Amino acid sequence: MSKARAYTNIALIKYWGKSDPLWNLPTTGSIGLTLDQLYTETSAKINDDLKQDYFMLNGQKTQNLKVMKVMNFLRDLTGDRHFVEIFSENHVPTAAGLASSASGFAALAMAASQAFGLSLDRKELSTIARLGSGSASRSVFGGFSIWHAGHDHDSSFAESILDPLNFDIRVIDILADKSTKKISSSQGMQLAQSAPNYAAWCSNSQKQIDDMLAAIANSDLEKIGLIAEKNALAMHELNRTAIQAFDYFTQNTRDIIAATKKLYNSGTLAFATIDAGPNVKVITNSENQSTVIETLKNYGEILVQKAGPGVTNV
Ligand code: ADP
Ligand code: DP6
Ligand code: CO
Repeated sequence: MSKARAYTNIALIKYWGKSDPLWNLPTTGSIGLTLDQLYTETSAKINDDLKQDYFMLNGQKTQNLKVMKVMNFLRDLTGDRHFVEIFSENHVPTAAGLASSASGFAALAMAASQAFGLSLDRKELSTIARLGSGSASRSVFGGFSIWHAGHDHDSSFAESILDPLNFDIRVIDILADKSTKKISSSQGMQLAQSAPNYAAWCSNSQKQIDDMLAAIANSDLEKIGLIAEKNALAMHELNRTAIQAFDYFTQNTRDIIAATKKLYNSGTLAFATIDAGPNVKVITNSENQSTVIETLKNYGEILVQKAGPGVTNV
């Protein structure tokens, strides 16, 4: 049996659209920061008696097409037609906009490939994680990573930018709503691709990737935060302008964003980013975190995260 743990990651430059849904190739590259509090543990073991894969998530037998896609890919890669029993525990709310698909499929990629006897490098693991969920390609790595859009399975991989054990960054999650989202990330980005500004968003994102890489290389937290905030708000604006318009924000989301901007304008390093859900994450550092927490604790449960590790065996 093989067992792996992977942590969630927050996108600083978002992935929000697919050029190929079957292979899960994205329309743009993206940059993430793997975190150190929310994670998934998954074990996988070949079972000769099974006639199909057996997948248990948080103690419940679950049908999951994306898990099947990953397992079928591994069977085709190895020529081994066995089925596998998979047990996964999310130490993160599932499908709530807190990146359970990222930790979930990074853990599955490692555990399931090892169950088939493979010992893949991280780049290959990231492509397999990507087949399950795009953001999972980045959770294979610790700290900051970039997922290159690529043009086919092998060229669409993530790699480490900098494993920042001592990079002074904090991500403060304000958990106001842990319920399951009505529009999954996959559905949300498909709708967003109909927005009139979608092509402009993609070309702007390429420029923001270059700026973000420079900001990370210079350990410039203010630039990192300003670019990430701009990128996130533009992504959510796309959703509001899609042909079938939708919005992950609630009033609480808007209030926290406003409070974060007010903090920044009064001299605190604090920048908002929001994935596919209503919960705001505030990017700050150790010096500013207590001011941020003091100001935002009334809006929801506070969780402080630092940079976390890549996927490992446990
Ligand atoms: P999130 O914001 O949690 O990433 P998504 O809509 O992107 O939400 O993905 C949620 C889906 O990810 C779940 O419905 C499930 O199919 C899949 N998922 C979540 N956790 C796991 C896991 N541990 N193993 C495999 N798949 C998972
Ligand atoms: C807003 O990776 O969850 O969090 O590939 O369809 O599973 P699928 O989508 P997913 O999308 C994440 C969207 C995001 C931005 C990001 O993490 O880059
Ligand atoms: Co997800």
